[in-house]
Amino acid sequence: MNELDQLVAEARAEFGQADAPADLENAKARYLGKAGRLTELLKGLAQLPPDEKKARGAAINVAKQQVEAALTERRQALADAELEQQLKAEALDVSLPGRKRGNAGLHPVTRTMERIEAIFASMGFDVADGPEIEADWFNFTALNTPADHPARSMHDTFYVEGGHLLRTHTSPMQIRHAVQHVKKHRALLDAGQPMPDIRVIAPGRTYRVDSDATHSPMFHQVEGLWVGENVSFKDLKSVYVSFLRAFFETDDMQIRFRPSYFPFTEPSAEIDMMFNSGPLKGRWLEVSGSGQVHPQVIRNMGLDPERYIGFAFGSGIDRLTMLRYGVNDLRLFFDGDLRFLSQFK
Ligand code: PHE
Repeated sequence: MNELDQLVAEARAEFGQADAPADLENAKARYLGKAGRLTELLKGLAQLPPDEKKARGAAINVAKQQVEAALTERRQALADAELEQQLKAEALDVSLPGRKRGNAGLHPVTRTMERIEAIFASMGFDVADGPEIEADWFNFTALNTPADHPARSMHDTFYVEGGHLLRTHTSPMQIRHAVQHVKKHRALLDAGQPMPDIRVIAPGRTYRVDSDATHSPMFHQVEGLWVGENVSFKDLKSVYVSFLRAFFETDDMQIRFRPSYFPFTEPSAEIDMMFNSGPLKGRWLEVSGSGQVHPQVIRNMGLDPERYIGFAFGSGIDRLTMLRYGVNDLRLFFDGDLRFLSQFK
């Protein structure tokens, strides 16, 4: 093998060892660069006698072309390898089945809330919303609940920093909403003119230190309030009976108002219902507390109890949801198990 063939063979071997484009360019410089081996050989031609120059020049040029060809070939091979790798990394198997996006659905308790809102809206009730971290005044004091009332004991209430608490019921919304309403109609009241009735429901989360199959430390209630100059217990009965019939889509039930006690209503009643048919047939089920709003509470709303009267109720939304769907453990609603929840889609 002559010395030029040797050079070409060495160049091929070096190019072949270059695994990265930068290595290859360095190898190229060693042969074709300004001080590269082939370049030096070409420079050396100048010293040769004219008769040798031609043949030698031609031979060097052949070698140069071979080196350039080897370079081009290696460049292409590296580029191909890189592309191959990139394609592999980004590989898309178009024959795979598509990934299915599951359908979302509303939580059963949310469904119940929307259902309750729609039914009461059809009876002319507004829907109000209020804070879950509540001041003592709204949760207890304004609701005629004296400081030594059992409902205030640490056993029931989650207290938070700053003397506030997690509302133990939705009843604070009675005061909040009524005060807003009175403020809005201040001019009418001052002029001794009739104010539009307060007719509102307030659904939302409530909290008590309690946890078993039928109690969750976080639960849902809906408060109802109707206050005007001529609202009576009779209206409470007709509104609530209409609600239960619409909610359960049946008239085939009995409803009773059982005397009870709440500090913020007088008289007070527990509302019980019993289905005449179906799986829950024949059992009295407690669905709501209720009563005529206590005169002191009317006063705390900024109204004159000699002139304004009304009723309130507070119902358990989770309980209504359990009865409607036949669920026997309240905790299922809050465990977040999709096998349970997806049945309500
Ligand atoms: N707030 C009461 C409770 O949580 C229910 C209630 C509301 C009773 C309104 C009467 C009037 O037990």
